[in-house]
This record gives sequence, C-alpha cells and structure tokens, in this order.
Amino acid sequence: MSAPLLEARALTMRFGGVTALDALDLVVNEHEILGLLGPNGSGKTTFFNVVTGLYAATSGQVLLDGKLLTRQSPQAVYRAGVTRTFQRSRLSLPLTVFDNVAIGQTQHLNQGLIFNLLQRKALRAQFEQTVEQVHALLQTFSSSMAAKMWQPAGSLSMIDRRRVEVCRALISNPRLVLLDEPSAGMTHDETRELMDDILKVRAQLSPFTVVIIEHEMGVIQRITQRCVVLNYGKKIAEGSFDEITRDPEVQVAYLGQEVAA
Ligand SMILES: Nc1ncnc2c1ncn2[C@@H]1O[C@H](COP(=O)(O)OP(=O)(O)OP(=O)(O)O)[C@@H](O)[C@H]1O
Ligand SMILES: [Mg+2]
Repeated sequence: MSAPLLEARALTMRFGGVTALDALDLVVNEHEILGLLGPNGSGKTTFFNVVTGLYAATSGQVLLDGKLLTRQSPQAVYRAGVTRTFQRSRLSLPLTVFDNVAIGQTQHLNQGLIFNLLQRKALRAQFEQTVEQVHALLQTFSSSMAAKMWQPAGSLSMIDRRRVEVCRALISNPRLVLLDEPSAGMTHDETRELMDDILKVRAQLSPFTVVIIEHEMGVIQRITQRCVVLNYGKKIAEGSFDEITRDPEVQVAYLGQEVAA
C-alpha cells in the first residue's frame, strides 16, 4: 500500500483545560474524499487549524508525504500544497472576485520596492498570467462565474461567494483541500449544486485530495469514500458512511443530533 498523503500521529491540542484533539491518529490517502464528522465541539475545525499551521500542536505530529508539517508557518503549509476554506466566510466583500481568488496566488509578487520598480514589465506579465489563471478556474465552475470576475464579492449570492472561496483554495493547484462546512448558510438545493460543482471541477483539474467537514449527512453520504468520526477530540469510528452510521458509539455521540440524512 502506498504511504498516506497526510498523517496525524498522536496529535494533541489543548486550550487551557479543554483538550480539543486528544492523541488523534488519522490518515488521509491520496486522491480520496474523506468526511470528517463529529458533534459540535468535537475538534474538527481544530484539526484543520493545526494542520494548516494556525495553531501549534501541544504534542504529536502531522506529516505530509512523510515530511513533518507540524510547527511550520501557514505560508509554508500553503506552499507545501495544503489549502482550505473556513467555516465562517473570509471573503473581503468590497474587493472583486478576482482579488479574493488571487490573494493566495499573488503572495509571491511581494518582492520588495526596488524589485517592483525595476521589474514593472515582469510584474505586468505575472499579473496578466494570474488574470488568465483566475478566469480559467472561474470558467471551470461556470461561464456566469467567469463573467463576475470584476464584480465586488459582496454583490454575489451566498452560493457564488462559496464558489469564490473554493476557487481561492484551488488557485494554487493544491494536493490537499480542507473544506470546513461548505454548506453552512445554504439551502439543500444550493448545497447539492455546490457539491456537484466541486466534483465537476475536481474531475477536470488534477484529482486533488479532499477532507470535508459537513453537518449535512446527505452530502457526506453522496461524496465521500471514507469517513472519520471524532468525539471530544478522539477518533471513535472510521469506515464508509454506511458503516459509521451503524456504529453504536457514533449513534450515542450524536444522540439528540441528526445522524441520518
Ligand atoms: N482558539 C480556541 N481557544 C479556546 N478553545 C478553543 C479554541 N478553538 C477551539 N476551542 C475549543 O476546542 C473544542 C473543539 O472546537 P472545534 O471548533 O474544533 O470543534 P468543531 O468540531 O469544529 O465544532 P463545530 O461543529 O461546532 O464547528 C471546543 O471545546 C472549542 O470550544
Ligand atoms: Mg468547526
């Protein structure tokens, strides 16, 4: 069997008295779509925050392709090919769709004033290339998205804003994309549409690996190959959607919460 793309080993994250991740062992295989489930407060977002370098783990390790990712800066994790969307939207609403998507991509343009003054032609070429890349990615979603490239993100509907967030996570051609509740705030139909879009884009681009946190179980059932369930920062089950929903420990953890679609 090939080595996993991402591996967490005994990953622990404490916030004062709260243990958000408790010696978590978790493997993400290359090219799979993995569902990360668990009741509210079970540590799902914390896992993303630790993997992407926003939080420094209390102990344990995260490996990408066997190389240590723990204690790297968010920029280094991004350069290593791991991107994400956030549970709460992080779009800059007054900025254009282009600006919001290109934000990650243009980080490398910041090479100092002297360089910028001397290399204006090179910068112009880089900018034009970025415009082309962003346009092509938006076009992969739909021509109507591409037509909105110079509109402020704030003028877009909720579902289009989500598409912009997903594009921002995809513009750097990542190997691993972490999606934190992409359906939050959307209707059933919009959620279905967005998931279809993500699958379509994934089929057209290189088949990047996805970890998706999602409370809407219909989505998880439809798009994931495998699921991991957390409770109090510990892994309590893993397997196919059908397997984990039959698991008695999962049913107890979700007691009072809806686990079936
Ligand atoms: N920055 C922080 N400071 C203090 N406590 C935190 C912080 N981030 C998370 N926690 C705590 O860690 C635990 C796990 O939170 P986390 O946000 O990872 O849960 P979650 O599974 O994403 O929940 P939800 O489904 O509600 O988004 C919770 O008890 C939360 O209060
Ligand atoms: Mg969360």
